[in-house]
Formats: sequence, structure tokens, C-alpha cells
Amino acid sequence: MPRSQIKIDYGKVMAGAIGRKHGITPSHLTSLGKKIKPLISQINKQRKAGKTPFRDLPYNKPFTRRVNALVKTLRKKCECLVVLGIGGSALGNIALDTALRPFLPNPKDKQSKRPQLFVLDNVDPAQFDSFLDYIRPQLGRTVFNVISKSGRTSETAAQFMIIRQMLIDALGRNGYRKHVVATTDAKEGTLRKIAETDKLETLEVPDGVGGRFSVLSAVGLFSAAMCGIDVDSLLAGARDMDRRVSRRDFRNNPAAVLTAINYYYYTHGKPISVMMPYSFALKDMADWYRQLWAESLGKNKDLAGNEVEIGPTPVKALGATDQHSQVQLYREGPNDKLFTFLEVKNFDRDIRIGPAPDCAPELDYLAGKKLSTLLNSERRATEYALLESQRPSLTVLFDRVNAYTVGQFIYLYEVTTSLAGALFGINPYDQPAVELGKEATFALMGQDGYENLTKEIQAKTEIDEAFLV
Ligand code: PA5
Repeated sequence: MPRSQIKIDYGKVMAGAIGRKHGITPSHLTSLGKKIKPLISQINKQRKAGKTPFRDLPYNKPFTRRVNALVKTLRKKCECLVVLGIGGSALGNIALDTALRPFLPNPKDKQSKRPQLFVLDNVDPAQFDSFLDYIRPQLGRTVFNVISKSGRTSETAAQFMIIRQMLIDALGRNGYRKHVVATTDAKEGTLRKIAETDKLETLEVPDGVGGRFSVLSAVGLFSAAMCGIDVDSLLAGARDMDRRVSRRDFRNNPAAVLTAINYYYYTHGKPISVMMPYSFALKDMADWYRQLWAESLGKNKDLAGNEVEIGPTPVKALGATDQHSQVQLYREGPNDKLFTFLEVKNFDRDIRIGPAPDCAPELDYLAGKKLSTLLNSERRATEYALLESQRPSLTVLFDRVNAYTVGQFIYLYEVTTSLAGALFGINPYDQPAVELGKEATFALMGQDGYENLTKEIQAKTEIDEAFLV
């Protein structure tokens, strides 16, 4: 039986919907289609040449088998799973958990009895110490998954060093080993070295797969599988989308159409791209997208080395919550945004609204209606209100949120990012600007070899009393 497909409704970005001055016309789309078609072939060729290994993750059976085998041995004793990681080594894990597990555990629901997941992606001392208070009494029932491709990211290294010592003190070296899984580069890096020395269980971040493209590898799959998410369906959904985004026929390739629309608006006065799910489950997918889009497309040099300072600014919002926080700006502030709504047709659970109190007949219009009807009406109302202000929006339609459709969504946006990178003429797979901040942290924390950088940073960032108020 064919499984449900996510679809993109892009009618409300067209000039026919928002006016000729603001909207893309069919002929614009056709000419962008002509530019994008050879880029589809280009990224398909790069994939065949092994240059974009993230494209092959949904087919990587040995990795999935290794993840499943480890999950089998660890799940029984695991009530809490703690991921230590940051950026691409955390955002996908959070997004999968929010999308595919119930909001709160329900004792009657088998799935929700699986481990509680904590993803610690910061080094705030107050937060971390409070977490340690919580986890210390349950170490025997906890598994820590430390994820770092490079193994030398300060935040993850610091978290791991705290946890490692705590486990050794509480459970001894042997106990420590049994409670940690390290996900890192297959051959090199600091975490690989530690894992080998400490004899930890390990999973691989596949070669050539950058953090933000790694959610469908062991990076995202281990925590998902530990928590009972159907990773086979997730990967099947990604494979399904792979067929669609590999098509050379522009109009039938959702990544190509998304790329064209985003590019058109970026180059026509709308440098901001707002993703607004009308679904709590999809809220952290917008966060995952934000990193993918920002780190991949925000570049100051094109492939020929010219200065370009390019890149749409991704913003996340949540419907209906942010209608009461952002929509005033979105409608009446600068007309510099393209909106992407995420809509869910069928929610896994639904509730009918109770009767209106006798004293409040003005609430009768809500009585007996489903909450899903209210939420989806709010999305439509916002779409309409934006159209009235000539603000373009497109909608990604989910028949349901499940592992299969989430797999499609992830793969769709990864390939759209590749294609958008090709159209912008930049390299979407590196992040040189992030590296400088990492190095500066090494310098400020006293790492050997960074003495000159430390001096330079101190001189440039010292507080000047003349400008202190
Ligand atoms: O997308 C990326 O490459 C980054 O966000 C990294 O995932 C992040 O900086 C963490 O790096 P690492 O996994 O090496 O610790």
C-alpha cells in the first residue's frame, strides 16, 4: 500500500495570489527551472562520485544493523538516555524525539515507557549542575551517548569529562564503560582516541558527513531507536523522498521547486525565511532546519573565491503560539520574509472542545469542535492575513506526523540545501566561520599553541570603561 507523501502547496507565493509586484510568476519559475535542471544533474553526479555521502545514509544497512544490535543490548537496563553533543550532534536528536514521541510519558502507552531522553547541548553551569543532581541517583539505569565527530568541541568535551569522572567515581571503571556509547569519526579524533583507550562502545559518524547532515546516521538513529522510534520507517521515508528529489523534471521535484521559490524571494527583497509549524511535534524540526539552512548557506565566498556575503536568515516560529507574538511584525513590519508553514492534516490524537458556559454564549462557536480544526483554521487564517498584506507563504502538508513522513521531510530539506548551495554558487558543506569561534574558545581556555590568538582576542574584546554605562 502506498504510504503518505508530504506535499508542498506553493500557490500562495505566486503573483496571482499576492500581486504582481510581490509574487513569483509562472515565467519566473520556468526560467529558474531551466537554471536548476542542470544543477539537479550536477548534485546527482556528485552523489554518484561519493562526494555527498549524506545522500546514501538511508541505504546504509550495516550502520543500521550496528545501531539496532547496540540498542538491543542496552535498552533493557536503560531508563534515561542522555545525549551529550551540540549543533549537528544534537539538533536532529531533539527534533526526532519531539516529533515522534508523545509530549509527556503516559503509563498506559508502551512507547512512552521507553527511556526518557535528555539532550544536553549547552554548558550552562546552573543547568548542568541541576541535571547532575537529577541523574546522580539513577546512574545505574542511565546510558550516556556522547556525540562529537571531531571529538574536540569544547562544550561536548567538557560535559563528557564531568560525566566520565562522575561515572568512574560512582560505578568504577568497568561500570563507566557499560554506561557510555561514543559516536564519533571511525578512525581519528580525540573522542575516538578516548573511546579506544577507555574501551567504550562506539558508533560511527560516516566519513564526509557533516554534523547538520548526519541525523539519518548513527548520530540521530541511536537515540531514536533507544527511545522506540521506528527508524526503519524513518529511513524508508527518506528513500522515498530520494526518488522524488532525484527527478530531473523540475516541476515534479519538490526540492527543486523549494529551491526556486527560496532563491527567487531571497534575491527579490526577502532575505528572511520563517518556518512556522502548526504542530508541537514539528516545532524542533524548525530548529533543525534553522541550523541546516544557516550554516550551509551563510557564506562570504562563492566557489570561485569571490566575496559574496550570501545567505537567507532562517527564523523559527510556532503556530498558533507566535500568532500572539510575531504576526503583528510579520504583517505590518518590513515585507522581507518568505513564510513556510508546516501543516498536519490528521493528528495522532484529537480532542473535542467542551460546551460553552451558559454565561458565555459568545464561545458557542468553539463548542464541540476538534482542537485540530481550531489549530488548522488558525494556520489558514494566518496564511490569509499574510496574503492580505502581500506576504508570500508556502505550506508543507503532512497527512500525518510519523517516522515515514518525518524521514521524507528531513531528506527533502537536506537535498534542497544542496541544491540551493549549488544555485547560490557556494559550498554548503563547510562552516569556516564556526571554526574561528571554536579556536577562540581554545585560546581563551588556555590550550597550548594558541598564545598569540589569546593576546589578540584579549586586546580586541577588552571592556573599554569609556563605553560602559
Ligand atoms: O553541522 C556541523 O558540522 C556543526 O554544527 C557540528 O555538528 C557541531 O559544531 C559539533 O561538532 P562535533 O560533532 O565535531 O562536536
